Amino acid sequence: MDLGIAGRRALLFGASRGMGRACAMQLAREGVDVTLVARTEGPLAEAAAAIRAACPEVQVTAVVGDLTRPEGRAAALEACPAPDILLNNADGPLPGDFRDWSRDDWMAAIDAMMLGPIEMMRLTVDGMMARRFGRILNIVSRSVKIPQHELGLSNGARSGLVGFTSGLARQTVQHNVTINNLLPGLFATDAQRRHVASLVSADGPGFDALWQSREAAVPARRFGDPAEFGAYAAFLCSVHAGYITAQNLLIDGGSYPATY
Ligand SMILES: NC(=O)c1ccc[n+]([C@@H]2O[C@H](COP(=O)([O-])OP(=O)(O)OC[C@H]3O[C@@H](n4cnc5c(N)ncnc54)[C@H](OP(=O)(O)O)[C@@H]3O)[C@@H](O)[C@H]2O)c1
Repeated sequence: MDLGIAGRRALLFGASRGMGRACAMQLAREGVDVTLVARTEGPLAEAAAAIRAACPEVQVTAVVGDLTRPEGRAAALEACPAPDILLNNADGPLPGDFRDWSRDDWMAAIDAMMLGPIEMMRLTVDGMMARRFGRILNIVSRSVKIPQHELGLSNGARSGLVGFTSGLARQTVQHNVTINNLLPGLFATDAQRRHVASLVSADGPGFDALWQSREAAVPARRFGDPAEFGAYAAFLCSVHAGYITAQNLLIDGGSYPATY
């Protein structure tokens, strides 16, 4: 299927590793010029080089920047002032007990998982509507549908983003600007490895046992491959997806334990 987006411009946060990088690679394969943003230069340069090597016909730009910081968002927009596609993505929080979280912990979570993405929408959505094409994707988490008891910061902050986009998406779709949230289940990425490592305790199972038990609990009996996520995201950015908006789309190997 031709996605019909060759020549478009995508601005992707959190694009040096994991699912964000896979989205950038897949969009580049579809002929989209990609601007990759992440905080750490080494992996970002490596990701940009890999995409350039795989897709020499597109423009690949790398910007060191933080989605949670005004200067990071400004640097991203300076490199890609009029994106047709926006991917919001940043770190999730570490697990913990809500009794231990300070206001600063909550504000950091809200900046990464709610306000940073909302700011980027504020800065780009009017231009997209004026140009009559826009595809905005937020990488969220299954935690907005299946609350994870140890991830209260994610359950809370991400739900704020989902609630906000539900209203905004219905105002933009008449201008061919869609906004959707992608809800990953368990994907084999650095973030998953960090999460499992944080669950290891002296008197409990080790990393490998925890990793395998999480994998075994997925109906698909495996972790998701970031490339599968990238392909789904690319379709949602396509010309064919203009009637899909305001959705919270699980990609979880069947983990969501309900019919609806
Ligand atoms: N993997 C899973 O199973 C899973 C499941 C549910 C939800 N999620 C969520 O999905 C999102 C992506 O996960 P992933 O597994 O792909 O993560 P990952 O492999 O750790 O990659 C995260 C990417 O985001 C960048 N990043 C992090 N914070 C940033 C910020 N403030 N500004 C700009 N870039 C930032 C990272 O680079 P730098 O660190 O260099 O900035 C990296 O490129 C996360 O929010 C995660 O919590 C993941």
